[in-house]
Amino acid sequence: MMFTLLKKRWKVNSVNLFLIFCTFALGGSTCARVGKAIMGLSGLEVGFVWWLIYLFLISLLWPICVLLISIPLGQFVFFRNYIQRILRKFTGKKDSKIPKIAVFASGKGSNAENIIHFSQKTGLFTVSAIVTDRPNAGVVDIAKQFDIQCIIINEEDLTQAEDLVLTLQNLDISWLVLAGFLKKIPSTLINGFAGKIINIHPALLPDFGGKGMYGRRVHEAVIASGKKESGITIHWVDEHYDNGDVIFTATCEVSPDESPETLEKKIRTLEFMHYPKVIAECIKKQMLR
Ligand code: GAR
Repeated sequence: MMFTLLKKRWKVNSVNLFLIFCTFALGGSTCARVGKAIMGLSGLEVGFVWWLIYLFLISLLWPICVLLISIPLGQFVFFRNYIQRILRKFTGKKDSKIPKIAVFASGKGSNAENIIHFSQKTGLFTVSAIVTDRPNAGVVDIAKQFDIQCIIINEEDLTQAEDLVLTLQNLDISWLVLAGFLKKIPSTLINGFAGKIINIHPALLPDFGGKGMYGRRVHEAVIASGKKESGITIHWVDEHYDNGDVIFTATCEVSPDESPETLEKKIRTLEFMHYPKVIAECIKKQMLR
């Protein structure tokens, strides 16, 4: 029961939980030994003052010890975030400075998953909600896996999107990131999150975009056109499909024997490599304004 709670709270699997416990145990004992060794060098008699200094010393040594031990055990990111959280508690600084985003997706959610991993690794933003129009989409499982709130919407929620805007704002979400979301974003949502909605398209826009141009279909169209190059386009979202100003593009070659599957692989590599970083850059630029 306690393990299940911890896994949920820390968003880790059983193996990582075990390694985290090992890091706590090894970090704690190393810190105690080093602390005692240093106190031994001081020549002080064990007593009240000794204990006072010792406790102060180990509270300084503990973060260093666990961070060092977390590296070979592969838990550095967890402990770095853990210690940052403790420091924030002590200094009274709130997490609220970290921008919260919602990822909109209709498909399997591989980009959503990659964005979540990036956010957990870097702490540059938090994915606070997954929004989908498909209750059976793979992205719903991704939301469950990471214990992120999943909001399932229907056609009406989008045509009358005031409630959706409110729901997202109540969750303190300030950015919307589309990652394979099939529906058009209504103007209510665009106005509610003005200049803070980003989309990725798996081709070089303005070609191969628009209604129905989604996932594998896009790659089939690119190959059928005989183009020698494809890529990804990350752009601001307006009321039209795949239309707003371009933020970033990256390209790849379309080889003569390319199949939609192989092209999809190349595109996914570009998406994984660039999308989370571009999101983080957009957020950073807006925060500096
Ligand atoms: C991604 O390739 C994304 O670029 C594309 O849908 C895929 C979603 O895959 N988006 C569009 O086609 C938008 N017009 P995922 O669910 O595995 O992230």
